[in-house]
Amino acid sequence: MGEDYKEVLCKMNKVDPWSVSEVKDYGKLLEEFGMSSIEEYKKRFDSFHYIRRGIIFGHRDLGKIVKALDGKKPFAMMTGLMPSGRFHLGHKMVADEIIWFQSLGAETFICAADVESYLMRDISFENARETALEEYLANYIALGLSEKKLHFWFQSDYINPYYRLRDMCSKRVTFNELKAIYGELTPGKITSALTQAADILHPQLDVFGGPKPTVVPVGADQDPHIRLTRDIASRLSADRAGCRDFDCIPPSATYHKFMSGLTGGKMSSSDPKSYIALREDPASASKKVLSAKTGGRETFEEQKKKGGQPESCSVYELYLYHLVKDDLELSKIYHECGGGEIMCGECKKRCAKMMSDLLSEHQRKIPSALKRAQKLIGKT
Ligand code: TRP
Ligand code: SF4
Repeated sequence: MGEDYKEVLCKMNKVDPWSVSEVKDYGKLLEEFGMSSIEEYKKRFDSFHYIRRGIIFGHRDLGKIVKALDGKKPFAMMTGLMPSGRFHLGHKMVADEIIWFQSLGAETFICAADVESYLMRDISFENARETALEEYLANYIALGLSEKKLHFWFQSDYINPYYRLRDMCSKRVTFNELKAIYGELTPGKITSALTQAADILHPQLDVFGGPKPTVVPVGADQDPHIRLTRDIASRLSADRAGCRDFDCIPPSATYHKFMSGLTGGKMSSSDPKSYIALREDPASASKKVLSAKTGGRETFEEQKKKGGQPESCSVYELYLYHLVKDDLELSKIYHECGGGEIMCGECKKRCAKMMSDLLSEHQRKIPSALKRAQKLIGKT
């Protein structure tokens, strides 16, 4: 285990989901936190490239969702967005997952975490609203999110039973447990964590039809919240002399890997060179691809002889995650690269073209998506 990884692990373990960046070894992550590998579901869900390719690498309790699917029983999909910065390719992963679960029939719950962005990122409620609408919701809809069976809300502005549930959650966890999960605590962290627990559990409130399996698709950094919420759920629904606080099923989750940044390192909203935003000018996105960090060799000759290294190439990652859905085509690129048949210059040009086509096509859909988004949050 490299130092780097230890550091990250330590962060994920003891500190908080508000500062995690990169993870080097996802296998170790599964072990350390007791997530399950996605392996056993690769066949079942092989039509979804995130699962087929192991981009979604882990889960908790996904079996409950599979069971609901098999029994044609209702289930919910719940996730949240932090309305800060621009909506980039890393965020697109969550959107694609939401849309996929929706296509399987999930009742869909999406929360704009404006309380969290206010407390943890110092973003005003007004700003958060604007970002949630123009960056997140508009892009979600342009990517294919449907308004059918969709609930979208702001943490600061929702229904009473949700707030009551948050208060109930606070009774079922101790200060020391929170410290063990999040490290150094602040009142803001505590409120954010408990609000997120209410986000995740509230689709099971009576007003939404009572207990049902709920899956939460997230990046691996959100696992501390999932673990906390699962514990709270079992305590809330524990039988105390024939009486329960709240009858609910501990949530399931899927975990995806983080995308690398185009400059090496992590893809981060605070570094525009590291990401491609979905509403960014296609020409500027092309430029970023053309100057991205690759797995290429020092010299042309060396690359011809030894081949490139797609495993550590941010351009290849763009193909793998977003641009090439066909496995045969992807494997062709992989082998061309590894066999030294293609050089990075040419490969980046091809990728830049694909990326700019994807963005142009996507952005054509934005105006009507924005209108639908405004309507959805009652701002017409
Ligand atoms: N904390 C999440 C983030 O930083 C956002 C979020 C809020 C969320 N509530 C949630 C994610 C519920 C999943 C489920 O992105
Ligand atoms: Fe990456 Fe393409 Fe270069 Fe291979 S040839 S290292 S995939 S840019």
